[in-house]
Amino acid sequence: QMVALYNGMGGGAAAAIAAMELFSTRATGIPALSITLLGALIGSVSLSGSLVAWAKLEGVIKQPLRFRGQQILNGTAMLAAIILGGFIVYLTQVVIGTPQPAPLLVCLFFAFALVFGVLMTLPIGGADMPVVISIYNALTGLAVALEGLVLQNPALMIAGMVVGAAGLSLTQLMAKAMNRSIGNVVFTNFGAVAKTRPGAIKGELKPVDAGDAGIFMRYAGSVIIVPGYGLAVAHGQQKLYEFVKLLQVAGVTVKFAVHPVAGRMPGQMDVLLAEASVPYDMIYQLEDINEEFSHTDAVMVIGANDVVNPAARNDKLSPIFGMPILNADQAKKIYIVKRGEGRGYAGIENPLFYGDNCQMVYGDAQTVLVKMIEAIRGLASTA
Ligand code: TAP
Repeated sequence: QMVALYNGMGGGAAAAIAAMELFSTRATGIPALSITLLGALIGSVSLSGSLVAWAKLEGVIKQPLRFRGQQILNGTAMLAAIILGGFIVYLTQVVIGTPQPAPLLVCLFFAFALVFGVLMTLPIGGADMPVVISIYNALTGLAVALEGLVLQNPALMIAGMVVGAAGLSLTQLMAKAMNRSIGNVVFTNFGAVAKTRPGAIKGELKPVDAGDAGIFMRYAGSVIIVPGYGLAVAHGQQKLYEFVKLLQVAGVTVKFAVHPVAGRMPGQMDVLLAEASVPYDMIYQLEDINEEFSHTDAVMVIGANDVVNPAARNDKLSPIFGMPILNADQAKKIYIVKRGEGRGYAGIENPLFYGDNCQMVYGDAQTVLVKMIEAIRGLASTA
């Protein structure tokens, strides 16, 4: 929410600079006026879009607003703003030859741009917001750089370009790690269209008691923990590390496997584990640990789903096909900690949960961890 608000402020500031230019006589000449208008358009879209993103994350707007013909309406709003911008340049510089555009047209232009930002963001699902905010971040940087160009202000140009380039790289990295294009995030309704084909998943879910799962891991030689979004929701990181320390005291080798898009923000799992004071040398990124799953005794997937879904590897029709995943399915024993049969961000079934080597530990991540800790401590006291 905070990042969305700050980003909106940046876009708004760029749009305000553009407004100052447009309502004065400083942006004269076709190139200067065009660049100012482009900065105004991008800054305004970033302002209103970021505010809608904030409202969605804050829960003020509860559902993505989707209706028939929405993309045509969005395209029309964008085209209207661009055509109006072109008309302002043509009218001011070619037909009338005045240094200042008509204020009414400028106001109308800002209104179209702001409405386009709102319309573009309304249909996007709340879970896609991190990528959307990152796109707006890149746009804000671009708008600031454009205004810096008009003002001939090197500080604005450099700051804007750095922010724009960083935002663009971050957006690309997030999209790549999810195996989705940026257009797919902005223009499609991910998850809602994803359906499991009948018969695609065989086997059944096998529940197990949290204490039994904890004790099994206590007697394993090696354990890999895969944290995900649900761990963050449950605020279970402190209890997780407490549990891990008990395993370590019992001689178990424990590692954390972090997927680049686990959670809902880049680096969210790294931050979560750092918050619980998990040493960095216990945390492994996907490419550094994926080979190890096949010779690991037990894996505990806690609050994660999509990042361990083998459909990404095997099912060409799956919306996450091609996304790199953690090879949790290759471990000898897998425990999945989650509250029920809720799906992950992609909204699809996970065949891993139905595998012979997999058992479900149902419950809130923190509550489950408390039970696991109690079970291991109970062993020590009876011994
Ligand atoms: P998800 O696939 O979203 O799965 C989270 C799982 O956690 C759910 O299946 C849910 O099942 C469980 N859960 C929720 N609350 C819980 C709680 N209190 N206790 C225990 N479990 C709980 O998470 P993931 O594996 O971390 O994958 C992240 C997804 O987000 C990916 O698809 C990724 O592409 C997407 N995404 C990531 C980012 C970045 S940059 N990280 C940005 C946008 C989108 P129950 O409801 O049954 O509990």
